[in-house]
Amino acid sequence: MKGKLIVLLPLIVLVAIVEARHHVDEMQHDSNSFSLELIHSHANQFSNYRRPRAQHERLKDLIHHDIIRHNITSHRLRTRRRAAEEAVPPAASIEMPLNAGSDLGIGQYITTLRVGTPSQTFRVIVDTGSDLTSVRCRSERCKVELMTLFSLTICPTPLTPCAYDYGYADGSATRGVFADETVTVGLSNGRKTRLRNVLIGCSDSYQGITFDNVDGLLGLGNTKHSFATHAAHKFGGNFSYCLVDHLSNINATSYITFGTSRNRVGPLGNARRTTLELQSLVPFYGVNVRGISLGDKMLEIPMKVWDVTQGGGTILDSGSSLTYLTDPAYQTVMEALTMSVSKYPRVKLDTVPMDYCFNSTGFDETSVPKFIIHFEDGARFEPHWDSYVITAGGGIRCLGFLPARFPGVSVIGNIMQQNYFWEYDLIGKSLSFVPSACSCGY
Ligand SMILES: *[C@@H]1O[C@H](CO)[C@@H](O)[C@H](O)[C@H]1NC(C)=O
Ligand SMILES: *[C@@H]1O[C@H](CO)[C@@H](O)[C@H](O)[C@H]1NC(C)=O
Ligand SMILES: *[C@@H]1O[C@H](CO)[C@@H](O)[C@H](O)[C@H]1NC(C)=O
Ligand SMILES: *[C@@H]1O[C@H](CO)[C@@H](O)[C@H](O)[C@H]1NC(C)=O
Repeated sequence: MKGKLIVLLPLIVLVAIVEARHHVDEMQHDSNSFSLELIHSHANQFSNYRRPRAQHERLKDLIHHDIIRHNITSHRLRTRRRAAEEAVPPAASIEMPLNAGSDLGIGQYITTLRVGTPSQTFRVIVDTGSDLTSVRCRSERCKVELMTLFSLTICPTPLTPCAYDYGYADGSATRGVFADETVTVGLSNGRKTRLRNVLIGCSDSYQGITFDNVDGLLGLGNTKHSFATHAAHKFGGNFSYCLVDHLSNINATSYITFGTSRNRVGPLGNARRTTLELQSLVPFYGVNVRGISLGDKMLEIPMKVWDVTQGGGTILDSGSSLTYLTDPAYQTVMEALTMSVSKYPRVKLDTVPMDYCFNSTGFDETSVPKFIIHFEDGARFEPHWDSYVITAGGGIRCLGFLPARFPGVSVIGNIMQQNYFWEYDLIGKSLSFVPSACSCGY
């Protein structure tokens, strides 16, 4: 699969037949104020104490007390640690490994999700474009227990579980029932914690290519039901990720973090920041684009393309591989970019949906003009050149854009986002980004 480009259409939700009104946003902030009572001096006990006859007996007694003391201390520390795992200190954050799905034949990024008690591990696609987290009902527990676990009063009829039928624009779909589940996650301090009452779909049916080789989907969309909202708010309101090159080996790991990212110290010093639009394009994360420049030249693109009130707008989507531009922007960008690579022989590929591919033998990357997305508030996103002149394998490169119909939204896909660190601040409504190798765990 390596070297082959995998292209998937954006995961746009078409239907969610029944919305379960589970209280996923109800956080469990247990008190974290358990104080450890250290065993104090033995003086009082010693006053009524039978005087040890010999020094070594006294020593033995002391050691005995030390052992008991250590045992109690250990026990309390264990108890305290368990309490701390449940009520996580504010400085902590969740870190989940993130890998490119290329080796699995998918164009998205994957992580592992541990669901249930005892937990089962599921390999899931990380999708900012979906608010449904769902896993395959592959075990009896999931099939039998979860499907009967609902609070039927909130469901359409007393006998119908809270079913869903979720469709995606590429024809994939999933059907199943909702459950409030416990998810076990790793913390940045190496410990683990449990997130309770996470709304998880238990899917008994998956159709289409999207879910091949994976067990489901981690919904990071911007609604109160999503895993991102639940997890991020529990840890202060942020989530962040760094996407390694999309063709990376499945062993190349970065992290998706809920809470304060460790990456904030250091590279983020030079981060750019723009407003995150959380209201207008729910469940997606919107950004306000003002225009696109190519090689220092601002392209002439009608403003309506970027304007949500005129049927346009732009979202950032980890579930789309390529970047979609609505017609008026697509034509302009493609014309300008094509000119810069026109000296290489054009190649027609039936296997990829991209309009313009070329033989990249002897390709000189300095001939690629700088592509910059300018945001309303002045921030500029400058993707790496190979994030828009992308490898299609076999000595061929393609311009990594697909057209979308206007009116409609433009989508900044995951290839465009690669080798950048992205931080979503759901409370401050801002998006920070900074170039990163996504190595050393980030
Ligand atoms: C301390 O705990 C260990 C195991 O937890 C136990 O085997 C040992 O007997 C305990 N020692 C004392 C003195 O209570
Ligand atoms: C990933 O790493 C494991 C162990 O380190 C190795 O066995 C496996 O071959 C690697 N996978 C790939 C695709 O390189
Ligand atoms: C959340 O992210 C924003 C933007 O990157 C940052 O300024 C803020 O300090 C972060 N908050 C926390 C709690 O980490
Ligand atoms: C690309 O061009 C080189 C010669 O310049 C040729 O050898 C090679 O077969 C071409 N590759 C494709 C995929 O057309």
